[in-house]
Amino acid sequence: MKVAVIGSGYVGLVAAACFAEMGNKVICVDVDENKINNLKIGKVPIYEPGIDSLVLDNQKKGTLSFTTNVKEALNESTIVFIAVGTPMGDDGSADLKYVLQVAEDIGNNMSHHLIVVDKSTVPVGTADLVRKKIQKTLNVRNCNFTFDVVSNPEFLKEGAAIDDFMRPDRVVVGAENLESLKVMRELYAPFTFNRDRFIGMDIRSAEMTKYAANAMLATKISFINEMANICEHVGADINQVRIGIGSDKRIGYQFIYPGCGYGGSCFPKDVKALINIANNHGYHAELIASVEKVNNKQKNVLFKKIVDRFGTDLSGMKFAIWGLSFKPGTDDMREAPSINLIRSIVENGGEIAAYDPKAITQAKFYLKDIKVEYHSNKYDVLDKVDAVVLVTEWKEFRSPDFQKMSKMMNSKILIDGRNQFSSETIKNQGFEYYQIGVN
Ligand SMILES: NC(=O)c1ccc[n+]([C@@H]2O[C@H](COP(=O)([O-])OP(=O)(O)OC[C@H]3O[C@@H](n4cnc5c(N)ncnc54)[C@H](O)[C@@H]3O)[C@@H](O)[C@H]2O)c1
Repeated sequence: MKVAVIGSGYVGLVAAACFAEMGNKVICVDVDENKINNLKIGKVPIYEPGIDSLVLDNQKKGTLSFTTNVKEALNESTIVFIAVGTPMGDDGSADLKYVLQVAEDIGNNMSHHLIVVDKSTVPVGTADLVRKKIQKTLNVRNCNFTFDVVSNPEFLKEGAAIDDFMRPDRVVVGAENLESLKVMRELYAPFTFNRDRFIGMDIRSAEMTKYAANAMLATKISFINEMANICEHVGADINQVRIGIGSDKRIGYQFIYPGCGYGGSCFPKDVKALINIANNHGYHAELIASVEKVNNKQKNVLFKKIVDRFGTDLSGMKFAIWGLSFKPGTDDMREAPSINLIRSIVENGGEIAAYDPKAITQAKFYLKDIKVEYHSNKYDVLDKVDAVVLVTEWKEFRSPDFQKMSKMMNSKILIDGRNQFSSETIKNQGFEYYQIGVN
C-alpha cells in the first residue's frame, strides 16, 4: 500500500519504518527541515533500539523516503497517518494545534480520495474535528474529493518500540466506514500474522481506549508507590509485599514496581488530558486525579530521602546521578523524575555529577539553566561524591563494581529510586542503602 506518515517523531518514524519493512511504500513528512535533511542522509534523530538499521535498509530499498512537502506525500499515498505531538496545554488538556494544522494541510493538498488516520493520542471527538477541518479547507478550495477519518491509537513503548509495533498486543481501529476498516485490516495483517489481534470498534471508543489504557498503567504505578509509602510508615518492605500480591493472577507482577514516579511523553499528559476530558463532559474523574497527585508527590521521594539523610542545606555536598531518561532504553527526558531531583538538589546548594548511557544530549536541553557536570562513564561521576542516586534502571547499573565505587566516593551511600539491589548485597559491601518503600 502507499502510505504517508505526517510527523516523524518517536511514533511517526517507527510506524513509517515498520510499514515500509512490511513492503509498503511509505513517505514520511515533518515540518522540521533539519530533521528531514538528517533523515535523508540516514541520520536518525532519536535513540530507539533497532530504528537506525530499519530506516537505512528501507531507504536503500526505496520503500521509505522523507520530505517536508505534504503535497508530494499525499500525491503518492492512499492512506495518511497523523502522528504529530499532542502536548499538554496550559489547562492540562491535549493541545490539538498540531493535529488540526495537519488536517488543514491535508485539506489544502489532497488530490484524490484518502483514508486519514489519527495515530496521535487525541481526546474523544477529535476525529470529528479533523473531519470538519479537512472538509472546511476543501470547501474553500471548491474541491469535492472524498475522504474518511479513522482512529488508530498507538500503544508502543519507547525503548521497545520496534518490537511493539512489529508484534503488537492489539491493533485498535475505530471507523465508521466498513471499507476503510477493511483497508486498515489489510495494512496491519502482516503484523498480526500468527493470530488476529485487530480490534475494530467505533471511533470514540478507539480514542477512549488509548486514554483508558494509559490511565490503567499509571494507576498501577501510583498504587504501588502509595503502598511503598505506607510500607515505610508501618515498617513493612514493599519488595516483599510486591512479591506477595503479584502472585495473585488477577494482580500479576507486571507494572507493580515501586519507584520515583512515572514520567515520559505519555502518562503525565494523557492522565491530565483524561481528567480534563471528563471535566469537560461534566464528570469529575476522582481516581485518575488522585493517580496524578500521588505521582507528583512521588517525584519528590528521592529528594526527601536525601533531606532525611543529609538535612536541607546541601552546600558543599556533591551527588552522583545514575540515569537521567524517564525510563531505560530511551533518550527521552520529557517529564523525567531526574529533572525534579536535580533541580531540588541544586536549589538546596548541592552539586551534581550525572551519567546516562543515552540521554545526556537531551538532559543538557532540559536542564540548560542548571549547572550539571556530565560524564560519559558511570564510575567517573562518583569522584568524591557524598552519595550516588540511582534514578533510571539501565541494565548497566545492576552489577556495579562496589570496590571501585568505595574507593571513589566520599561516603558509601546509595539511594536507589528503582529498588535494584537486595539490601543484603549492598550492606555486605559496607554501603548505607536507601530504597523506596523500605525503612
Ligand atoms: N512517544 C511515545 O511513546 C508514544 C506512544 C504512543 C502514542 N504516542 C502519541 O503519539 C503522538 C506523537 O508522539 P511522539 O512522541 O512521536 O511526538 P514527537 O514530538 O516525538 O514527534 C512529533 C513530530 O511531529 C512533527 N510535527 C509537528 N507539527 C507538524 C506538522 N504540522 N507537520 C508535520 N510534522 C509536524 C514534529 O516536528 C515532530 O517531529 C502523540 O500524540 C503521543 O501522545 C506517543
